[in-house]
Amino acid sequence: MSFHHIPVLLAECIDGLAIRPDGIYLDGTAGGAGHSKEIAARLTTGRLIALDQDPDAVAAASQRLEGLPATVVQSNFRYADRALAQLGVDGLDGVLLDLGVSSHQLDEVSRGFSYQGDAPLDMRMSQSGPTAADLVNTASRAELCRILKEYGEEPYAWQIAGKIESARAAAPIETTAQLVQAVASALPPAVRRKDKNPARRTFQALRIAVNGELDALSEGLDVLFAALKPGGRMCVITFHSLEDRLVKQRFRQWATACTCPPEFPVCVCGGKARAKLITKKPVEAAAGEQAENRRARSAKLRILEKL
Ligand SMILES: C[S@@+](CC[C@H](N)C(=O)[O-])C[C@H]1O[C@@H](n2cnc3c(N)ncnc32)[C@H](O)[C@@H]1O
Repeated sequence: MSFHHIPVLLAECIDGLAIRPDGIYLDGTAGGAGHSKEIAARLTTGRLIALDQDPDAVAAASQRLEGLPATVVQSNFRYADRALAQLGVDGLDGVLLDLGVSSHQLDEVSRGFSYQGDAPLDMRMSQSGPTAADLVNTASRAELCRILKEYGEEPYAWQIAGKIESARAAAPIETTAQLVQAVASALPPAVRRKDKNPARRTFQALRIAVNGELDALSEGLDVLFAALKPGGRMCVITFHSLEDRLVKQRFRQWATACTCPPEFPVCVCGGKARAKLITKKPVEAAAGEQAENRRARSAKLRILEKL
């Protein structure tokens, strides 16, 4: 199987993790092992645990990490604690999350993530559980509208949800092309002419919903922070504002000593910060990387250190 994915912000992540050759590191989104390989190559007596929920990524990463001190496990990173317990690992020196989908998942038309080409409407990273077709054929118009608005910031969410409802009443929506058609038919002609890919926001929203991406991120951050040793680093790369907001807020919460409500005149909680921010502002890819790799244009890296 060919698995194509160019890692983003690679040097910045390696720097940010401050890798110790004897440390234990976890890459929660191994993908094609672009980051994993660079981490594992810096270890001597240390070890890398590489997780991915997608069996295709697990196969590619296992092959690419052969001969390096790495163990690849198929798992959602929200359950990283279970994977670590099974491996007998009781603390991490560093964690990396490079969120979202890989180029492989997008380019492999049969996976149903792409609005270009025609394939079964699938979008499941783990290749198990309900598909995007299950979702669009069963959710109410109000629920579809919420998903499109919340996860896709789609201005025509209500209209698109209505077209999906009427299209599926005639015949179930089974393919990506049928969904693209339903989206296009909901938009005013001027919008259709201006926006070359009017289904982009709908596809992003459904993908986030099908894979429970924001819940997994929220739970995963807590689980992984708990597993970090004092002095351990966490690097998270996000690709859209919903993810970045969640990471920013959680990092701030961990780095904030006082948890009293802002209206309290003096601190009564005596709280201690649990982390320090290594990046006050997110790191973005340099112009050269952005020119070479489109995905890098929206990437934002945040780094913290556990105290
Ligand atoms: C952007 S790619 C990572 C690419 C990788 N860093 C590389 O350089 O090859 C994201 C990967 O994370 C996986 N993924 C996304 N969310 C996940 C989750 N909650 N748990 C485990 N894997 C996840 C996807 O299946 C995909 O393979």
